[in-house]
Amino acid sequence: MNIGQALKEAGRVATGMARQVPVVGAVFDRNDRIDLNGKVVFVTGAARGIGAEIARQAIAKGACVALVGRTLGPLEKLAAELGDNAAAFKADVADYDALAEAAEATIERFGGIDVVVANAGIAPPPDTLLTIDPKEFERGIDIDLMGQWRTIRATLPSIVKRQGHVVVVSSIYAFFNGALNSPYAASKAAIEQLTRALRVELAHYGATAGVVYPGFIQTDMAEQTFAIDHIDEARKALPAMFTDPIPVEDIVRAIITGIERRSPRVAAPWWVLPMLQLRGVVTNLMDESMVHNAALSKAIERAESKKQHDRG
Ligand SMILES: NC(=O)c1ccc[n+]([C@@H]2O[C@H](COP(=O)([O-])OP(=O)(O)OC[C@H]3O[C@@H](n4cnc5c(N)ncnc54)[C@H](OP(=O)(O)O)[C@@H]3O)[C@@H](O)[C@H]2O)c1
Repeated sequence: MNIGQALKEAGRVATGMARQVPVVGAVFDRNDRIDLNGKVVFVTGAARGIGAEIARQAIAKGACVALVGRTLGPLEKLAAELGDNAAAFKADVADYDALAEAAEATIERFGGIDVVVANAGIAPPPDTLLTIDPKEFERGIDIDLMGQWRTIRATLPSIVKRQGHVVVVSSIYAFFNGALNSPYAASKAAIEQLTRALRVELAHYGATAGVVYPGFIQTDMAEQTFAIDHIDEARKALPAMFTDPIPVEDIVRAIITGIERRSPRVAAPWWVLPMLQLRGVVTNLMDESMVHNAALSKAIERAESKKQHDRG
């Protein structure tokens, strides 16, 4: 590489990094932004929560949306509410063939796939590595990690062909300590890695990929998790700023903007992005403060003894 090429490449890297700066980064936007009007968006876990709101906001932007999930009834109900630009397809993300069929059916119905949102996920039972049922641990990995991989792989040929964008819904648990939540945290960290690699692998096609890092969001998942006694107890041992769920509309507005800008990272609430940037320091501090947090240790101890008592 000569000096001219090296300078050009350094300029591209600097522009790419400048694009990540909140608000002012928009000045450096790529010239291949995605206008969702007329584009086709494939969303897994679209029946409820974040997935359903992505469908609503994408439709409002003029997109066609494939609503994909494991239960057809609620997906069809949502499709009827959203009109002719929405269609429901049944696919459990544990089943690669079903996802491939849903991708085929989407292409048949709408002509292709421009954006895939690998969103479907579950919250495995909040137990420790010592007490979690091994089958539940592995199911968590199968849905939250392997399900995302299957979704991406089944739709990738169309994304490549149409120079589209892949969105992978991870979590703050990609870098937060996953105590009482380890299959989930391990999956969310793994899919972050997978998406970073994918973004580089897609660059020569002009396609892109980005990771979403939601904090806690007002959906069934957060509500059901926080309803569990020892999780509520653990939650109260942490600053409320980090654990108060935000409205689903807020994270989805950020996701939609991220799609339009082909952002490699989307985060909400506001404190997630700075933490992400400082994660080397933040994760060390977090781990140490959690190890020495007496209320959290007590909650973990109680969770384990309850589990052992329930098992008899
Ligand atoms: N809520 C939060 O605080 C939060 C925070 C960070 C990240 N996230 C992530 O955001 C994503 C969406 O979560 P959410 O809060 O919207 O959860 P949610 O309200 O519980 O909705 C989850 C959706 O995923 C679907 N799903 C679950 N297992 C599936 C499977 N095997 N195959 C196909 N679809 C499946 C569910 O389908 P059914 O309706 O059939 O059950 C449901 O539509 C997840 O990846 C989650 O990890 C959520």
